[in-house]
Amino acid sequence: MDTLRSIPTFLPGKIDLETYGPREIHLVHVLAFVLPISYLLLVLFQRQKNVKAPLLASELDEGRRKKKFTFQCFDLLKDGYEKAKAGLAMYRITTSDGSEEVLLNHKYLKELKDLPDDCLNFIEAIKVSTVGDYSTITSSSAEHVAHVVKSDLTPSLPRLIPALVEEVDLSIQRAFPEIDDWTVVKMNKLMLDVIPQVSARIFVGEPLCRDLRWIELSRDYTLEAFAASRAIKPWHPWLRPFVYRFLPEMRVLHKTLAEARDFMTKIAVDRGTKQTKLNVMFDWMKARSPAGYETDYEKQAMAQVSLSLAAIHTTSMASTHMLYDLAAHPEIVAPLREELEAAMAETGGLNKDTLTRLKKMDSFMKESQRANPSGLTTFKRLVTKDITLKDGTFLPKGVIINVDSSMRYMDNTLYEDPEEFDAWRYLRLRETTGSAGHHQFVSSNTESLFWGQGRHACPGRFFANAEIKVILARLLLKYDFAAVGGLRPKNLIFGASVSPNPEGEIFLRARR
Ligand code: HEM
Repeated sequence: MDTLRSIPTFLPGKIDLETYGPREIHLVHVLAFVLPISYLLLVLFQRQKNVKAPLLASELDEGRRKKKFTFQCFDLLKDGYEKAKAGLAMYRITTSDGSEEVLLNHKYLKELKDLPDDCLNFIEAIKVSTVGDYSTITSSSAEHVAHVVKSDLTPSLPRLIPALVEEVDLSIQRAFPEIDDWTVVKMNKLMLDVIPQVSARIFVGEPLCRDLRWIELSRDYTLEAFAASRAIKPWHPWLRPFVYRFLPEMRVLHKTLAEARDFMTKIAVDRGTKQTKLNVMFDWMKARSPAGYETDYEKQAMAQVSLSLAAIHTTSMASTHMLYDLAAHPEIVAPLREELEAAMAETGGLNKDTLTRLKKMDSFMKESQRANPSGLTTFKRLVTKDITLKDGTFLPKGVIINVDSSMRYMDNTLYEDPEEFDAWRYLRLRETTGSAGHHQFVSSNTESLFWGQGRHACPGRFFANAEIKVILARLLLKYDFAAVGGLRPKNLIFGASVSPNPEGEIFLRARR
């Protein structure tokens, strides 16, 4: 409780914990007053941006359009994609919370992808859509984190592989049950136990990476921040500075952040006094910060949880999809193992040189991402200055744009038999097109939009690639896989985001 009371800088104000508990009764009175006013202000001040583009599903009223986006987004976007293919430059969609966003024809991506942040802003778009000032989803640490991932983490990857391998082994040993004969497991839960520990080895180092509470906190912060975002978003911006103090979701978030700060004080002492062999994100973020950061534990905590938010659920979802796909396509297990064992024999174990030889695994991973992208759209940006594109298309300041991505992955004019799961699709493209760099798991180009695009394309993809390859390698050597009922668990599509079924089950047994 005391730590919470003294945590002023994560959010715009300080939550006074005494407003909770017995005094919660006040909330009822406050809400009775605030709700009608908030609604009135919403109606009066919601500004319609002047975008000249048709609204998808305009035959429905707003409530039904919101529902359609939330529960039938794929069908909605398919309709938009067909219209874009026929030449439509852009269209508007009503999102789950009733706000409007613009979906641009993919052809504009080349022109837009390198525009500076003062025209098209990534962080501001996330801030608007997640109420980032309150939910902390876009903290002031976001740019710092991206910079350090690019400048230090990626170049250091070859040196980090032995630590990654060790942590993957330790986490599998801890998180996976003892398995001999076919056993049903919930793979998403296992990945959400393994990935935070493995990531933490490189984000905060030993011994904190094995602290069960840190593992839980670095995983759950993301869920708590999104819950806070959902709770505050319906309130009018003028009321948010007042209302957020009363929201239970905010209280949970504050508590987690206070705890993260306490972890930072411990780790600073730990890393300050011990001779640490390996520099990790914690050290690099400190080295690249202005004076004062080393004792600013709130900033350090914010940087760590922001990093976890970008890294943990994304990687856990991608690896879960891959393991679901492996279970549903047992015929690809033997070729993957053969490639892996040959590479390990040539390189003397599982190391950086082994990973670069795993071309079949790379192709399989990319195909799994094509079949199960993390989102139906990409390149979410806030237009921060009026933009007129070369063909005269006008994007007014204030709108949020996106580009349709997932429909392209299922377009049979772009992919042969797109509905088929073809694990070696990208291997063939690598071999036959003469542009190997275009078809790798980490490739980011206007056809591979899994990592976003342009100056903000995911800088963590090289780390994610290494982490997932090491995990898959270890699991392939240890287990056989089979799908329950022969099919992989179905994805959940909620709005434009796609997730593996968290309760999805597959069979594992010790490798025969
Ligand atoms: C399979 C796992 C991952 C997926 C699918 C993924 C996907 C993405 C996407 C789509 C974006 C937005 C890019 C854009 O709009 O142009 C992004 C941004 C970002 N990702 Fe990842 N990511 C993954 C893993 C990671 C990891 C492991 C890290 C950190 C080590 C990371 C760090 C970041 C950061 C810092 C940004 C913001 C970049 C910026 O502000 O310029 N991501 N990621």
